Amino acid sequence: MNLGFIGTGEITKAVVEGIIKSKIKYKKIYLSKRNKKISSLLKRKSSKIEVLNLNQDIVDKSNWIFLGVTPEVGKKIIKELKFKNSQKVISFISTIKMNELKKYVGKRIDIVRAIPLPPISLGIGPVPIFPKNRSVKKFFDKIGNTIEIKNENLSLNFWTMSSMMAPYYEMLSYLSLWLVKKGINKKKAEKYITSLFLGLSENANQNKYKDLKELVKKSQTPKGLNEQSLIELKKLKFYKNLNISSNNILKRLKGK
Ligand SMILES: NC(=O)c1ccc[n+]([C@@H]2O[C@H](COP(=O)([O-])OP(=O)(O)OC[C@H]3O[C@@H](n4cnc5c(N)ncnc54)[C@H](OP(=O)(O)O)[C@@H]3O)[C@@H](O)[C@H]2O)c1
Repeated sequence: MNLGFIGTGEITKAVVEGIIKSKIKYKKIYLSKRNKKISSLLKRKSSKIEVLNLNQDIVDKSNWIFLGVTPEVGKKIIKELKFKNSQKVISFISTIKMNELKKYVGKRIDIVRAIPLPPISLGIGPVPIFPKNRSVKKFFDKIGNTIEIKNENLSLNFWTMSSMMAPYYEMLSYLSLWLVKKGINKKKAEKYITSLFLGLSENANQNKYKDLKELVKKSQTPKGLNEQSLIELKKLKFYKNLNISSNNILKRLKGK
């Protein structure tokens, strides 16, 4: 099978890196030249990768075509591409919904919307897909954990949560800078914070707790530091404010 990627930005880079390291069977990966820096970096990683100038050439040579461009670019370029009946289109584009995608593709072929995130380059992380699709599920299960969603409106909730990536990293950066201001070397501070949160996430993910509420409860000693921190952050509406942002992102995804 040949895999083609239109748009070689951050998400294509992560997915292709994940594929190269995985057990996925493929003959060739065709990448678009843009972005030149990323496409040439990826080409150096595998002799099975070819970089092509024209988006249509990528479509013509591939069985599955992944769309990794921004919504603005997608709206312009997808409708100019000619697809074959046997092909599959997998779109990573956040704000082009299925009806619109079908219109742009212009053929009754399989179209799947997928939400991989950069950890896929390490072969980890969830990949929500809509609609259900057995072969696409099998594919992403080799570089992450596929979650099949049968209804597009439901899938928008997962898109909303995917917008927490940069805010989450900003939190790590903020906490590291706090340590730096206290005189700790930047490298050490960042290493400490990233391993702290990695450990906490692994624990939440792997250990059996009834639910996350129970984990929160078990993570506090009565009158301890965690309890104090939690009370103070709740008073500052730190957590409630997360919902304000999520609701706004969801509205945007629904086109309201
Ligand atoms: N980043 C994520 O974690 C993530 C996760 C899930 C979904 N997504 C979605 O994936 C899409 C891409 O996101 P991204 O973060 O990867 O964006 P990005 O880094 O800006 O990548 C967009 C890519 O599209 C290329 N491009 C622009 N015009 C093109 C054209 N006419 N033909 C072919 N390629 C063209 C750009 O090349 P130049 O640099 O040369 O302009 C760039 O390589 C977005 O719709 C986003 O919502 C992203």
